[in-house]
Amino acid sequence: MNVLIIGASSGVGKEVAHIFSQKGHNVICSSRDERELESLVSDLTIRYGNKAYAVPVDLTDLSLIKNYLIDIYGIFQSIDYVIVTAATMPGNEMEYYDEEGLIRTTMTNYTGIAYILNEISRRMVVDSCSGIIICLSSVAGERGRQSNFIYGASKSALNTYLQGLRGKLYKYDIQVTTVLPGYIDTLMSYGKVAGSLAVSPQYASKKIYSLTEKRKDVVYIPHFWWLIMRIVKSIPEVIFKRLNL
Ligand SMILES: NC(=O)c1ccc[n+]([C@@H]2O[C@H](COP(=O)([O-])OP(=O)(O)OC[C@H]3O[C@@H](n4cnc5c(N)ncnc54)[C@H](OP(=O)(O)O)[C@@H]3O)[C@@H](O)[C@H]2O)c1
Repeated sequence: MNVLIIGASSGVGKEVAHIFSQKGHNVICSSRDERELESLVSDLTIRYGNKAYAVPVDLTDLSLIKNYLIDIYGIFQSIDYVIVTAATMPGNEMEYYDEEGLIRTTMTNYTGIAYILNEISRRMVVDSCSGIIICLSSVAGERGRQSNFIYGASKSALNTYLQGLRGKLYKYDIQVTTVLPGYIDTLMSYGKVAGSLAVSPQYASKKIYSLTEKRKDVVYIPHFWWLIMRIVKSIPEVIFKRLNL
């Protein structure tokens, strides 16, 4: 299969690139860091012998995304799977105090992804009426917490977008899966979460790979976050707004 991984230079995305390449798929690895992507694809090619390409993209720069899409369809005539792991979480409430942080978070975590998935999903319908889109969001998108509500709001927008896209593509047999991780031990969570609460990026990438074999709409990683979020979402707003979360 031809697989596009957006967010491949780090964390879960890098592990996803390894697992898909190891399982015999051809991959395009994307994110901003071209040097990291080049080193990843040469590693993948040497280790697993399948085709691996580095195609950089910056999700905040919509003017360049049209050319990015031309580049990826110049390599793969059609794309079978898209896995999106790219996101930003600046921390220190930078998105609240700094206008640039707000725009970057929203563009990266929602607008840029929606722009690309709109284009690719339309191509999937025309090319083959098949395909799989797996997009990492976050449990943070399920309820606005005062400590990270701008990141959470961008993930909420992404969740709603994916839900609508899933419905739109259902009749074409194109699967859209929303993945809601709790904590994963990567650069994004470094220093923000106790290691014991986080799963490894290898664990997350294995779960993501398994989603290409099972049709799922929404998946929590690990699964117990489903229960935690049911409880969090059931707290009345009048109490929730008083909690220092
Ligand atoms: N880690 C956690 O605890 C946690 C918890 C819940 C949800 N998640 C979600 O899980 C997913 C994977 O996270 P992770 O932990 O693997 O994060 P990570 O290690 O920080 O990786 C994020 C990836 O996004 C790419 N990226 C950032 N800004 C970009 C931009 N403007 N354009 C293109 N690519 C960009 C980065 O590459 P470049 O810097 O090369 O662009 C990197 O490859 C994310 O959607 C995240 O929100 C993570």
